Amino acid sequence: MTTPQPTRLDGMPPLEPVPFIDLVAQHQVVGEEVLAAVAKVFAEQRFILGDEVLNLETEVAQYCDAREAIGCASGTDALLLALMALDLKPGDEVITTPYSFFATAGCIVRAGAKPVFVDIEPQTFNLDPYAVAAAITPRTKAIMPVHLFGQCAEMDPLWRLATHNGLTIIEDACQAIGAEYHGRRAGVLGRMACFSFFPTKNLGGAGDGGMITTDEPELAKRLKRLRVHGEMTQYHHLEVGLNSRLDALQAAVLRVKLRHLETWTLARQRNAARYAAMFEEAGLLDVIQLPTISENGRHVFNQFVVRVRDGLRNRILNFLREHKIGCMVYYPKPLHLQPCFSELGYAEGSLPEAELAAEDSLALPIFSELTLQQQETVVRGIAAALGRPAKVSGVVVPRPKFLPFGPRVPQDELERRRESA
Ligand SMILES: Cc1ncc(COP(=O)(O)O)c(C=O)c1O
Repeated sequence: MTTPQPTRLDGMPPLEPVPFIDLVAQHQVVGEEVLAAVAKVFAEQRFILGDEVLNLETEVAQYCDAREAIGCASGTDALLLALMALDLKPGDEVITTPYSFFATAGCIVRAGAKPVFVDIEPQTFNLDPYAVAAAITPRTKAIMPVHLFGQCAEMDPLWRLATHNGLTIIEDACQAIGAEYHGRRAGVLGRMACFSFFPTKNLGGAGDGGMITTDEPELAKRLKRLRVHGEMTQYHHLEVGLNSRLDALQAAVLRVKLRHLETWTLARQRNAARYAAMFEEAGLLDVIQLPTISENGRHVFNQFVVRVRDGLRNRILNFLREHKIGCMVYYPKPLHLQPCFSELGYAEGSLPEAELAAEDSLALPIFSELTLQQQETVVRGIAAALGRPAKVSGVVVPRPKFLPFGPRVPQDELERRRESA
């Protein structure tokens, strides 16, 4: 493999490549601890469920302030198991967002129900409660909000709708471990919440993994049964479930990483604050719309997604990719327009906010170990893509108005940066 070479731009320092995510940097911090935890599992040779999984379940439940947590094989399976526990019948409807990872809607279909897509709020990319209210029918059984990019959906009105209409709320919290809504953690904002431990998540394993949280012990018992083929006692099956157990190896890795999660979350919030200051300083806010942070919650920035005005998203995307500066589009095609859901009958233009977001959103690197210099490169790259001079000094004062919950850069670090600038 050839190492990408930095690009020289007229009158500007070269644009060094920046990864979209750097899990190697994270491994350098936790590698020793992780390998020791993995070695312990090998020494014990208990690879499926067992104490490691039980302990992780207890620790994640505590972290989310939930009574119960049930480990399973992936975030997708967490969603599927949660939906299976509702005993949905053909024709039952589950209202959800079209602006999410495919699993959100795919699991509704796999559980035997019909996804009903409603539009998103343009500010947060999350489910629009007014649209949810308008979509409720006698066949509606559940609402599945997604806390997209690490920010909780607007839950107050959803709770009211669910209560009035006898509906279950299942949180798709796959991107949002540690996020909060009015001081309560994702994981206790619905009847069940589903988490993913995919390696790029804020709490990521060494492979696939997932978890469901709930406050209902009986429901937890059922979910534990469903993840082992509906087995009550050995070889006695009360119902048909899945094989969706969490590996002890994954649990061991995740238990180590969970101890670092708060530090990593603060670093993601710091990076978001730095971007906000840098884009402002670079004079790019006429084109780049920063993420909106809801006043009701704590955004954990699994992704930092800006919106690009004036149809310039693809120009910036292509330029950054050409220069090996990490960026992604989450998501280029909303779920209601996916070929596999064509029978549901959603036409182009039917959910315009989601469709617009697919055209103008751009995710930038936000991982915890991202350096100030790498962030400068991203911002300079965007300025260069627009043919503008980039004024990024490297001395960044985070704006509290943008990130009221995030940490400020300590005074001594600010001074150190000023000296080295
Ligand atoms: C919003 C959302 N839902 C569900 C999933 C599925 O999780 P997993 O990849 O662990 O199956 C993901 C993971 O990317 C996700 O981001």
